[in-house]
Parts: sequence; C-alpha cells; structure tokens
Amino acid sequence: MTEKTLPLTSSELLAFARKAGTPFHIYDGRAIRKNAEDMLDAFSWSDGFINYFAVKALPNVNILRILASLGFGADCSSLPELLLAKEAGFDGESIMFTSNDTADEEFLAAYEMGAVLNLDDITHIGHVIKACGKLPELISFRYNPGNERTGNAIIGNPVEAKYGVPHRDIIECYRIARENGSKRFMLHTMVASNELNEDYIVETARMLFSLVNEIYTETGIKIERIDLGGGIGIPYRPEDERISFFHLSERIRELYSEMIEKKNLHPLKLSFECGRCITGPYGYLVSKVRHVTHKHKDFVGLDSTMADLMRPALYGAYHHITVLGKENLPLSHVYDVTGSLCENNDKFAIDRKLPEIDEGDYLVIHDTGAHGHSMGFNYNAKMRHAEYLIEDDGIYRIRRDETYEDYIRTMLSEPEKIS
Ligand SMILES: Cc1ncc(COP(=O)(O)O)c(C=O)c1O
Repeated sequence: MTEKTLPLTSSELLAFARKAGTPFHIYDGRAIRKNAEDMLDAFSWSDGFINYFAVKALPNVNILRILASLGFGADCSSLPELLLAKEAGFDGESIMFTSNDTADEEFLAAYEMGAVLNLDDITHIGHVIKACGKLPELISFRYNPGNERTGNAIIGNPVEAKYGVPHRDIIECYRIARENGSKRFMLHTMVASNELNEDYIVETARMLFSLVNEIYTETGIKIERIDLGGGIGIPYRPEDERISFFHLSERIRELYSEMIEKKNLHPLKLSFECGRCITGPYGYLVSKVRHVTHKHKDFVGLDSTMADLMRPALYGAYHHITVLGKENLPLSHVYDVTGSLCENNDKFAIDRKLPEIDEGDYLVIHDTGAHGHSMGFNYNAKMRHAEYLIEDDGIYRIRRDETYEDYIRTMLSEPEKIS
C-alpha cells in the first residue's frame, strides 16, 4: 500500500490554488531532491553510478538544474532536449543521447556537445560517420532482446518495438565501431516501462551482464558502462507498492559480484535513465470543478484537459484523485472526471468513487510529475498550464500558462507564396 499524500496541507494547497488560479502542476522540489539522493545512496557501492534523468519526463529547466546539481546526468532524445539539458548545466558525457529515427543534424549536435551517442541500429553507424566525420571515442548501442524478453502495455513487446539493435547485429556493431576509431564502449537497453516488479529490472541487469560477457568473449571489447534504461514504475494506485532503490540495488550488487567481478569484467559502471520514479510521485495537477452534470452517468467537468495530462486517455492510466477539504468524507458517489476537450476520451478518471462533489471544489490529480505536462498538446486550442515548484523557502512559478499568442506564434497571418 502507498499512502497518497499532498505536498502541502490541504488548506495550504487550497489557499494557494485560490491565489494562483487553476489549473496548474505543482512539484515538490524537497521530495524530488530527497528521492534522487536516495537513489544515488542506494547505488553508492557502484563506482561511477549515474542516473541520466529522462528529460522527456519533466522537461523544465528548473527541475533539471536540481538534478544536475545532485550529480545526475540527462537522457535526451531530441535536439531541443539536448539544448535544454545544456541550459540546465549538464555537459559532456553526463548527457546520454538515446534517440531513434534520428536526423544527422541531431547526431552532429550531440557529438559536438560531447554527449554519449547511443545508436539505435547498425545502419546508424554510417550516418554518424557521415554527419560527424568520424565516430566518437565513446559510443553506445541500444540493445533490443527480441523474444528473449517480454514487454508491457506501455513499452510494448520487444519483438514489435521499433527500438534497438537485435542480437544478430549487436556484436558486429561493436566490431565496426572499433574498426572506425571508437575506443570506449557502452551498452544500453530499455525494455520496461512503469514496471513495479523488481524482478524485471533485476533480470534486465542479468541480461546486460551476460551480454557484456558475450561481447568480451567474441571481440575482446570490455564494455565500460551499461545503462539499464528507465522504466522503474511508481505506485499510481494506493494498493501498489513502490520499488525500493536500496533493495533493488542489493540484488543487482549480488548479480554484479557473480557475473562481472568473478568473470574479470570488473570494473563495469552502472547507470539508469529513469524519469518517472524520480519526479513522478512528486507532481500534482490541481484543477477546479466547473460543472457537475447528471446524464446517463454523473460527470465532474474540470478546468483542465488532456492537454495537461494525457496518460489516462492514452493508456487508460489510473491517477489517484483527492478532493481538497473532503479528504475524510465517504466515497459515496461514482463519477467520470472529465476535461473540456471535444473528445470523449478527455477523462481523468472513469467510474471513480469520490465524495460528493460540488461546483467550485478543487481536485488534486496525483503522480503527474513525470510524463504529465510534457506530453500535452494543443488540440482544440486548449492551452497547457503553469508549473510551480515548492522549495523550503516558498513556492516558485517555473512555467507560465500558455496564451493565445503562444498558440498562434507559428501561424502566418498572411499566406507566404513558396512556389
Ligand atoms: C529511451 C528512454 N529512456 C528512458 C525513459 C524514461 O522512462 P521512465 O520515465 O519510465 O523511467 C524513456 C521513456 O519513455 C525512454 O524512452
């Protein structure tokens, strides 16, 4: 069980929502810091351990700066994410560039920044050479284990996944990279998403440790670092149990001793590129009830939309909801909690048991600190909203609401004749 808590007292959050205006995402910087430090602590036995925070999870420079200051790296998947990571203070090999279907210009930009290029396919080696003139000294490949592993609803089955190098090509990738001048090597995979079963993450470590051994046996290449990807899940539902960094780390340590130390493959540096389990539980979407309607079902209509949080509509994902000031009332009603988009799947919850809700109530949608604001879009000209950060000395605004001017910025008021 995981207690669903708020980052401030209910009345403090209510007062803030009234003052700031809704909707908004609010992140608990204190809790994010503590959680990130816990992860580093848990893996402190592993020399050079790093978590490259997946920028896509929460691409706000103010959050990224916190993580950079703690010694995290950044995992980027596009040129704008690279620029954002740089702006936040990440540099060189603390940036992992795990992109797919990548433009040559993006390879070049990542190369020039000294980021680690993590290639998604054997054919990308030629593209990097073409784009950058040569391969970087340090190179990484993303491994796709195919039917050796199973996936889940979000990440999909590895056999169907568009990502990563299959086993038949992976050894050859390292050979070609060495022949073309690379001297240091990393190995990456990403086979889990929102996984709460610790065994799955441990098995991913086993898979990569074994592949490190195979690569060494086949080529003599000693992999310097592995990246186990992201995908450590968070307890979205109160009945879910979180994965303990400390417990996970101990299990990986045992495997490391058996599969790396005893096989003379030590030292091998470890890394993750987790986003969700770092910031996810410490973000909250606060929204006000506009309408309560009774049709074939009972609906609670909010002032936020899918533009603020896509996950329920996209994956049918559960996000816990607290009604501020009504925490202790019985869950006596069943509602669909909706946004105002002209899409029927613009719902934050379906058939959710909640206390009786009135117009003007404030709802907190939990666990929006990763893949929340960042997934938003502007369909129906719905705007994405502000982000706030709670620190020891107060609450800071770290992103303003989008405006109509932002929405039309790329539109030409007069057509421009092109041909
Ligand atoms: C390549 C890669 N790395 C890391 C992540 C972060 O995953 P999570 O936030 O679930 O840890 C993702 C998520 O989509 C990803 O695609």
